[in-house]
Amino acid sequence: MTMKNLVHCALLAAAIAAPLAGRADSLPIPAGAPPSFQAECGGCHLPFPPALLTAADWRRVMARLDQHYGDNASLDAQTRGEIEAFLVRHAATRDKMAGQGDPPRLTATPWFQREHRKVPASLWRDARVVSASNCAACHERAAEGSFRERELTLPELQRRSKDRHH
Ligand code: HEC
Ligand code: HEC
Repeated sequence: MTMKNLVHCALLAAAIAAPLAGRADSLPIPAGAPPSFQAECGGCHLPFPPALLTAADWRRVMARLDQHYGDNASLDAQTRGEIEAFLVRHAATRDKMAGQGDPPRLTATPWFQREHRKVPASLWRDARVVSASNCAACHERAAEGSFRERELTLPELQRRSKDRHH
């Protein structure tokens, strides 16, 4: 391989790796999701992006749907199986995506805590937010898998990001 080709390959590899490493603000639901995922996991809250928990965590979530964070989200075996396979297929592989709790919470991973370290503690319990799992309370386009800074909804958060740019 020539030097020029080598450089070309390295650039190409970087371009492919970039969306995975850098762009944490885009978390669309992966293609090929079974229709049951949106229907069954999007009824009570956002259908959470599979990439926010590890495969082991998703298995734990799906094994306990009858005791789902104080709710009952039970499914028939076939639907449960196809949703679990989809979640596991697109699950995170990095340690910082390991959830905590029983069943595990994606709002308690080291990654989530770090991305949200600047959110004032009082805001998590604010009446407009209620719970950290209520992504759309702060992220205007959460349902579309978009979590960009300029799409933050609450005035407190907008003021903060404006300060930074002026
Ligand atoms: C009957 C309503 C209901 C259904 C259906 C439901 N959930 Fe939930 N889910 C909840 C509630 C309530 C919570 C807890 C919310 C909170 O404490 O902020 C929750 C929380 C979660 C959390 C943890 C979020 C966090 O705080 O980190 C995950 C992950 C989750 N659900 C996944 C799923 C999946 C996957 C499905 C589909 C198989 C599903 N849910 C279906 C009601 C439901
Ligand atoms: C109380 C408001 C609030 C809630 C609720 C919230 N977030 Fe955030 N989120 C923020 C703020 C503020 C930031 C930091 C924005 C910045 O500085 O770029 C952030 C950052 C992020 C980022 C990184 C964006 C980037 O530019 O890299 C992602 C991804 C994200 N949140 C996803 C979620 C998900 C998924 C949920 C629900 C499970 C959620 N957030 C719930 C306020 C919130």
